[in-house]
Amino acid sequence: MLKPPICRMGGKSRLRKTIIEMIPEHKCYVELFFGAGWVYFGKEKSKVEVINDIDKELINLFKMIKYHSPEIERMLEYEFSGRDIFEEYKNYNVEYLTEIHRAIRFLYLIKQSFGGKGDHYGYGTTKKPSQQIFYKGILEELRERLRNTYVENLSFEKVIDKYDREYTFLFIDPPYFETTGYKDKFTKEDHLLLRDKLINLKGKFLLTINDHKETREWYKDFNIKEVEVNYSVSKTKKDKQKYKELIITNY
Ligand SMILES: C[S@@+](CC[C@H](N)C(=O)[O-])C[C@H]1O[C@@H](n2cnc3c(N)ncnc32)[C@H](O)[C@@H]1O
Repeated sequence: MLKPPICRMGGKSRLRKTIIEMIPEHKCYVELFFGAGWVYFGKEKSKVEVINDIDKELINLFKMIKYHSPEIERMLEYEFSGRDIFEEYKNYNVEYLTEIHRAIRFLYLIKQSFGGKGDHYGYGTTKKPSQQIFYKGILEELRERLRNTYVENLSFEKVIDKYDREYTFLFIDPPYFETTGYKDKFTKEDHLLLRDKLINLKGKFLLTINDHKETREWYKDFNIKEVEVNYSVSKTKKDKQKYKELIITNY
């Protein structure tokens, strides 16, 4: 199983095995809310694949890995960890950067920040800084993986309209209901629009969402499986928490 090149809040690292085992037969695989893409990078390739996220910088990174990975690798080879470099990258105006530079900036900020959030330089007293952002060869594998994949940067409803067929399978991992943290807000109206689109879907879907009175109500007519996920806010045992998530399918 491949590992994503970045981390992302709400990433499906702990649940991906369960999700992958539940994927039904399909020809076209669509991820509407890609993030770091734990499920995509963990599963077998499908005939046709589509990945989508509304975050422009995130999608630019995957596009650049797909088309220009040797150049990204070359430019990152001598890059190293430093607070001043971090601040410089953070303060760049992306409008003036090339797409390759934007991808490098995004990667650097994620790899060198606290919790991969990109806003504060990550340092510590018990762990060395990660001096290299990437080691040779990793991007090559990711590029190979992205070969058969359409990379979209749209809001989810437009992707459903374009790719929904009887032979399409959608893996759907939207931002949790009533939680914040992404650049692009996801409101209750967005959640309801998604639910309405799914009611009329031709293909099959698997959706993950936080267990909440309202989310249960929205999806009460579909199959609901409850799962418990370990969530660690720090490495100490006492800070390991469990929370409930729902896996919802129409098959
Ligand atoms: C929970 S994360 C997905 C995590 C992913 N499954 C993983 O394993 O890393 C939700 C993602 O939805 C994206 N997003 C937010 N609003 C969106 C929208 N309207 N359309 C498409 N993507 C959106 C965010 O940028 C974020 O990357």
